[in-house]
Amino acid sequence: MFGNITDIHSHTLWDIDDGAEDFNESVEMCMRAEDAGTKTLFLTPHLMYWEQAEDLYDEREEKTDALCECLEDNDSNITLVKGFEILCDDEIFDIRFFKPYTLNNSRYILIEFNFFKTTLADVVSWCDYLSSFGLVPIIAHPERYGFVMDNPSCVEQLSEKGVLFQINAGSPTGMFGEGEAYVACEMLNCGYVDFIGSDAHDLRVRNTDILSCVEMYPDGLNLDLLKKAACENPEYILKDGLYVPQRLDHIAEM
Ligand SMILES: [Fe+2]
Repeated sequence: MFGNITDIHSHTLWDIDDGAEDFNESVEMCMRAEDAGTKTLFLTPHLMYWEQAEDLYDEREEKTDALCECLEDNDSNITLVKGFEILCDDEIFDIRFFKPYTLNNSRYILIEFNFFKTTLADVVSWCDYLSSFGLVPIIAHPERYGFVMDNPSCVEQLSEKGVLFQINAGSPTGMFGEGEAYVACEMLNCGYVDFIGSDAHDLRVRNTDILSCVEMYPDGLNLDLLKKAACENPEYILKDGLYVPQRLDHIAEM
């Protein structure tokens, strides 16, 4: 049922962050994604320090070109798309020029936060700031943050501000923990999962094979919504179109 998956979040480029270690691993990660039904794979290295942004941008361009060339030589049909996963902290307020760092140069920007100290108020303020530039924030793996697990319905509050959500493919399986699995499943069934990402870092546990995670999902998950998140909704990012989410139900506390 899942053909043509678009994975909007991966650390497939080698030696640019804590993802793939070398070129061969990058190539293997792409091949594995393609074998598992991923048609389009976003390359989203961590962007954590703005003073490195321009250098990281250039490095991403060069490495993506080299990877595309090798995949073409190997008769691969996977499409690689550029982006970043941007760490929001106080420094973000110094930047006025986000566009080159969004997903596929679209209005959609993939963001993450410090796992240990981020509060809902921080997130609201960063998302408001990004929205004021006409950008649409997509929060990477919201299910993994303490402030969300403590209060899952805060996702509704963020959604009302136009924020979108990408869960990690492994979360509903319990890969990151029970709380993370609860939030991911609840978000999915209530219509709050807009996108899915492998968040792959290597060929081992967090790899690019989204389908192998889906096969381990608990019964009772809404597979139609899952399919939309994996195969249909990412088209809005690729075409820079206006995506309007449809939320279905209230998210229950754990
Ligand atoms: Fe990531």
